[in-house]
Amino acid sequence: MDESALTSGDFTESAEPFRLFATWLEDASNSEPNDPSAVALATVDTDGLPDVRMVLLKGFDEQGFVFYTNFQSAKGQEILATMKAAMCFHWKSLRRQVRVRGRVEVVSDAEADAYFASRPRGSRIGAWASKQSRSLESRFALEKAVAEYTARYAIGEIPRPPYWSGFRIVPQTIEFWHDRPFRLHDRIVFRSTADGGWEKDRLYP
Ligand SMILES: Cc1cc2nc3c(=O)[nH]c(=O)nc-3n(C[C@H](O)[C@H](O)[C@H](O)COP(=O)(O)O)c2cc1C
Repeated sequence: MDESALTSGDFTESAEPFRLFATWLEDASNSEPNDPSAVALATVDTDGLPDVRMVLLKGFDEQGFVFYTNFQSAKGQEILATMKAAMCFHWKSLRRQVRVRGRVEVVSDAEADAYFASRPRGSRIGAWASKQSRSLESRFALEKAVAEYTARYAIGEIPRPPYWSGFRIVPQTIEFWHDRPFRLHDRIVFRSTADGGWEKDRLYP
C-alpha cells in the first residue's frame, strides 16, 4: 500500500486518540480485503484465565468502543462478571495496531434496539436461534431453531432478544503502533486523566 495515500500524516503528533482512531479505521476501510472493523476482544473468566475472540466494532466515539453479542455467551458472562475488557485491532495491510483497555458499560436499550433493527432479517432470526457458546448437538438442531423462529416471526417486527445487546469499552488507555524499519516501531499511548482529558506518552517499541 502506498503510505502517501493515507489520511493520518505523522500520527505521533496527534493530541487526542479518537480522531486518530477514525483516520486509521478509514484507512483500513480503504485497504483491508474485508472486515476492517474486526477486532480481537480479550476478557478473563472467573479463574482469571484470559479468553480472546474476534468481534466487529459497530461504533465508537468519545464514550468508547461498541460491539454487540449474546450476553449469555462465554464473553458475555465473562464481561458481566468483571465489567472489564481489552481490544486489539491489527490491520495487516497498514502494518498498524491499536490496543484499547478499560471498563465496560452496557449500551442503552434504545441504542441496542436501533442497531438490532438495522441488521438483516436473517441475522435477527439467528440471534434468537443461537444459544451462543453452549453445546449444540447437531447442525440440524440449529437449522430447526432457525426454521421455528422464522415461522414465529413470519409477520411483523422481530424484537431484540432480551439476552442480546451491546457492550461499550470505556477506554483507560488507547495505544497506537505503527511498523517502522528494524523493529524500531512507533508506539504512542493515550491515558485518560481524571479531568476527562488525555495524556500522551511515547513507548519504546
Ligand atoms: C471477523 C469476525 C467477527 C465476529 N464478530 C462477532 C460479533 O460482532 N459478535 C459476536 O458475538 N461474535 C462475533 N464473532 C464470533 C466470535 O469470534 C465468537 O466465535 C463468538 O462470539 C463466541 O465467542 P465466546 O464463546 O467467547 O462468547 C466474530 C468472528 C469473526 C471471525
